[in-house]
Amino acid sequence: MGSVDRQLLEPTKIEISDLVVKYETPGNGDTQAALSKTTLNVRDGEFVAIVGPSGCGKTTLLNCVAGLVRASSGFVRVDGKIVGGPGRDRGVVFQQYALFPWLSVIENVIFSLEMRGVPRTERANEARRYLDLVGLSGVEDVMPKALSGGMKQRVAIARAYAAEPSVLLMDEPFGALDVQAKERLQVALLRALQLNPRTVLFVTHDVEEAIFLSDRVVIMGANPGRIVSETPVELQKDRVVEDKLSEEFIALKSQISQELRVIETGKYESEAVRKNNVISQVKKMELN
Ligand SMILES: Nc1ncnc2c1ncn2[C@@H]1O[C@H](COP(=O)(O)OP(=O)(O)OP(=O)(O)O)[C@@H](O)[C@H]1O
Ligand SMILES: [Mg+2]
Repeated sequence: MGSVDRQLLEPTKIEISDLVVKYETPGNGDTQAALSKTTLNVRDGEFVAIVGPSGCGKTTLLNCVAGLVRASSGFVRVDGKIVGGPGRDRGVVFQQYALFPWLSVIENVIFSLEMRGVPRTERANEARRYLDLVGLSGVEDVMPKALSGGMKQRVAIARAYAAEPSVLLMDEPFGALDVQAKERLQVALLRALQLNPRTVLFVTHDVEEAIFLSDRVVIMGANPGRIVSETPVELQKDRVVEDKLSEEFIALKSQISQELRVIETGKYESEAVRKNNVISQVKKMELN
């Protein structure tokens, strides 16, 4: 049995069923659908990446699973239980570094341990274990403002892990990082997940990142926000950065990027046609 077949046997961890979210338009009391009937099942231990144009409802979907946004209709279940609000079974990592600025690195992680009821005497050692997991050591007593963006996100992931949630919800966690830092964090996250598997829902604008990290890429479209398609990623599990250069990877990236372009422009454009269009537009601009 292949690894993909084996994964299919895993029980459903997150069940998103006919989920609709409507937001009120400020001022006139009208409502606007940010998500139209959306259904998605995530298996236990699966890593699902969500990509889609800006405003298509990715954050809304993630926030519904986090219990931060309420469903207008439909439901989200985690481990069979309806999500009615935030819970310790779901850890959230946002794009903005959501660390407590008045606490040091280790104190930020200890905060999660305290919430989980870990005895005081064990907290410092435990916190170091979670910092090690994301490749951070030697900065325990540093304040967040003195850290680089990449380090802050490592602390944020360590802190989310320390709460021992079974689900990690990540909304463009590496979106603000430069290319090198982003790549290092991607590898650190994959290693952390190998050592401590979790079910992950991960939003990103970066198709390469989505493929590199996930078992499945879900593509969303806008107006109304909805799932347009899904692509399984059948690359080997223990991935290294060099895998991004493989034929299989590049083909997948080109296919998903193409789909996204179709969603964004509403029409099919081959890479060659697109390049030609860009060139003729530039020429037109030069002539004017
Ligand atoms: N609290 C809110 N009140 C009203 N409208 C909202 C609210 N949050 C989001 N929206 C609207 O819902 C739609 C989906 O927003 P959402 O933030 O989920 O999109 P997104 O896919 O995460 O976008 P981005 O890629 O830019 O982060 C957008 O049209 C947005 O303007
Ligand atoms: Mg968003």
